[in-house]
Amino acid sequence: MTWNKDSWRNLNIKQQPTYPDLDELKKVEDRLSKLPPLVFAGEVRSLKADLAKVTRGEAFLLQGGDCAESFSNFSANSIKNMFKVSLQMAVALTFAGGLPVVKVGRVAGQFAKPRSSDFEEIDGVKLPSYRGDIINDLEFSAKARTPKPEKMIEAYFQSASTLNLLRAFARGGFANLHEIHSWNLGFVEDNRLDERLSHLADDITRALEFMKACGIDTENPALNETKFYTSHEALLLPYEEALTRVDSLTGDYYGCSGHMLWIGERTRGIDDAHVHFLSGIKNPIGVKTGPTITSSEILALCDKLNPKNEAGRLNIIVRMGAETIEKNFPKVLKEVLKEGREILWSIDPMHGNTIKTSVGYKTRDFDAILSEVKSFVEIHRSLGSYPGGIHLEMSGDDVTECTGGAFNVTEKTLADRYETQCDPRLNASQALELSFMLADLLKSFKKSNL
Ligand code: PEP
Ligand code: CO
Repeated sequence: MTWNKDSWRNLNIKQQPTYPDLDELKKVEDRLSKLPPLVFAGEVRSLKADLAKVTRGEAFLLQGGDCAESFSNFSANSIKNMFKVSLQMAVALTFAGGLPVVKVGRVAGQFAKPRSSDFEEIDGVKLPSYRGDIINDLEFSAKARTPKPEKMIEAYFQSASTLNLLRAFARGGFANLHEIHSWNLGFVEDNRLDERLSHLADDITRALEFMKACGIDTENPALNETKFYTSHEALLLPYEEALTRVDSLTGDYYGCSGHMLWIGERTRGIDDAHVHFLSGIKNPIGVKTGPTITSSEILALCDKLNPKNEAGRLNIIVRMGAETIEKNFPKVLKEVLKEGREILWSIDPMHGNTIKTSVGYKTRDFDAILSEVKSFVEIHRSLGSYPGGIHLEMSGDDVTECTGGAFNVTEKTLADRYETQCDPRLNASQALELSFMLADLLKSFKKSNL
C-alpha cells in the first residue's frame, strides 16, 4: 500500500474518539494544517543522530515527563521543575555513570491517552471514557465527555508555548553547568539524596575551575547550553496528520508535532493505522512492547518501521513488569539479537507495574520500578547487548503518587499530593534516586562490556 499522510484513514484503527460533529473536525484539521510546525526537521535529524549514538552504546537516552499533560495544571513552574529534574538526572548519569545523556521530554504534545475501555460506568450512568485533554474533559458528565475537535487547537498552542519555554531554558543560560547549584528543587533538601547531589555539584564546579585554571575556555556552548527534545504518543492521528509536513530541504515527510513520536502497546498492530502512519515519516519512532511481545512481532516492526535498518530510527520500549521481564524478555532479546537489527532498547518500568490500593488509588511501587530497571540492564549484560535508555512518567514537583523511595511515600500518604489526571508519576526525589542507581549500574556495565 502506498503511503500518504492520510492513507492511514483506509486502515483499521484503535483508540480513537468518535466526534459527533464531523464538519467541525474538518475545520479544525484544516486550520491546524495551516499553522506553523512545532518542530523543525533539522532538529529531528539531530535527535536521530544522537539516538544513533545511543544505539551504538555511546550515550544514554533519558525520556520522561507527565503521563498526560493537562490544560488546567499548565504552568511555567511545573515546566521549569520538570526541566530541572531532567538536568539533574542527566548530570547524575553523565558524571557518575560516565555517559552523555540525550534528554527527551514526554512533553509539548503528550495529551491523548489510550484507555482500556471505550466507556466508563458510574452508578448506572455510562459515558465515553476520558481520553486526555486534547479530546474531552475529565469531569463525569455527558457534556464534558463529548469529544470536541477544537481542543486540538488548544493543545497545539499549549505545546507551542511549552516548547518556547523549554528552548529558552535550554539555550538561554539556565542549563549552564556553572549554575548547577541553583538547579536545586528545594524539597529535595535534608536527606541523603540532597547530599549526593551537592557532592556532585561541588565536584562539577571544581572540575570547571580546574579546566579554567588550565586555560580551557569554560564559556563553551557544550557547558552553557543543552539540547532538550520533545516526544509524545502519536495516538490521535487527525492531529498528527495535520502537523505532518514536507521538509523543504530534503523533500521528506516529518511529523512536526514533536521530535520523537511513539506507538503505544495498544495500537502497535502491524497492519493497523498507527504503524502505517508512522512508517511514512522520518522522525525517530518508539514502540511500546508489553509482556506478550514476541521476537517475530519485533522483527516485523523493524521491517515496517525501519526497512533500511538505520541506527537512531527505532526505539523498542520494553514495559513488561518487574516479574514478567525476568521470564519473557531474555528469550525475546536473544532471538532478536541474532538478526542484527539496529534497535535502541529502552525500559519503561512504569506501565507494567501499576496496581490499585485498597482505597482505589492507582499507584506503582518504587521497588518494583527499580527491580524492572535492574533486570533490564542485567538481561542485556548477560546477552552482550546495550540497555540504551529509560522511559519514565515523572514530575519535577513533590507529588505523592508512587509508593516508596527516599521519603517513603506510603499507601496512607498517597492522598497528600496525588495530582495526576492519569497514571502515577515518580516525584523529583524518586526520579533522582532512580538515576543514581542507574548511574551505578551503567558505570559497572561500561567497564565490563564496552
Ligand atoms: C503511556 O506511555 O502513557 C502508555 C499508555 O503506555 P503503554 O502504551 O505502554 O501502555
Ligand atoms: Co501512562
